[in-house]
Amino acid sequence: MKKKILISRLYPEKGIRLLEKEDFQLTLWKKQRPMTQKELIDLSKTHDALLCTLTDRINPHFLEQCRHLEIISQFAVGYDNIDIPEATRLGIPVGFTPDAMSEATADIAFGLMIAVARKMFFLHKTIAKGQWGYFNPTGNLGFELKRKTLGILGLGRIGIKMAQRCKKAYDMDIIYYNRSQNRTAERLLNATYVKFEDLLLQSDILSVHCALTPETRGCINRSAFEKMKPTAVFINTARGPIHNEKDLTHAIAAKEIWGAGLDVTNPEPMQPDNPLLSMENVCVLPHVGSGTIEARDQMSVLAAINIIEFYKTGRMPHIVNPGVLAQ
Ligand code: DGY
Repeated sequence: MKKKILISRLYPEKGIRLLEKEDFQLTLWKKQRPMTQKELIDLSKTHDALLCTLTDRINPHFLEQCRHLEIISQFAVGYDNIDIPEATRLGIPVGFTPDAMSEATADIAFGLMIAVARKMFFLHKTIAKGQWGYFNPTGNLGFELKRKTLGILGLGRIGIKMAQRCKKAYDMDIIYYNRSQNRTAERLLNATYVKFEDLLLQSDILSVHCALTPETRGCINRSAFEKMKPTAVFINTARGPIHNEKDLTHAIAAKEIWGAGLDVTNPEPMQPDNPLLSMENVCVLPHVGSGTIEARDQMSVLAAINIIEFYKTGRMPHIVNPGVLAQ
């Protein structure tokens, strides 16, 4: 019997072609909208494997209904949409796609940093509103990034790429906070490990690159913003719930920090009347960190390979809960 694979979205063809070459029966969701939760559950019930992504809610209810699934392969590096302890308890291996998007996401973090320092999105909007005006020697001033201190929350694959860009372009000093020290990255970047509080106090740019976990959820909140420099730029390209949006809005309005660059919000999508969107020193993007042809192709390949290898060898190259396969 052919294994039946449910593919929850229109993913790049590169990975899908790899799956098509194998002896699988594929069901591709081709509509230009995500499945509803009911559609996802109903369809998953008749399949052996699921290829899904970050907006598919693989919660306890889903897992209870679909405990028969042999593998879940996530098209993303983050997997906070999946209840991993529950999947593990049910013995379902979960794959993910690390590093495929590190360059692309670091580019977005780096771009947002410059855009916020120079008010780029706001100034773009003034032209569209017919407000270019005149050359104003004292108006619309931003600041320069040379030799500033970059603070990284979560110095992993993407954080390292962001730090490398900032070092090469602006000779920045790098400080970071992680759950555990990353000695290799320290050597590579001459980075200094600091306490979380010192990261907040010392960073000119604070860039978030950690995973969303119970520990990091809401960790950049009012008390965190109060510790930051009034000239600091806050960048989040990881997950929206890591910062508290109300507290961020307050911190910028009260000039506790300079501004923010966000590729992720809470909730997503951000509503068009969100006050952050009309602030001078704020630049927001609609979660496009991994949005390059190269990154998305590679993500689809890794997600496909996880499924193919699982059925061929019983192993997965990129697995979140390896203990399940060791059993
Ligand atoms: C991820 O991979 O987790 C990004 O957020 C989307 O590509």
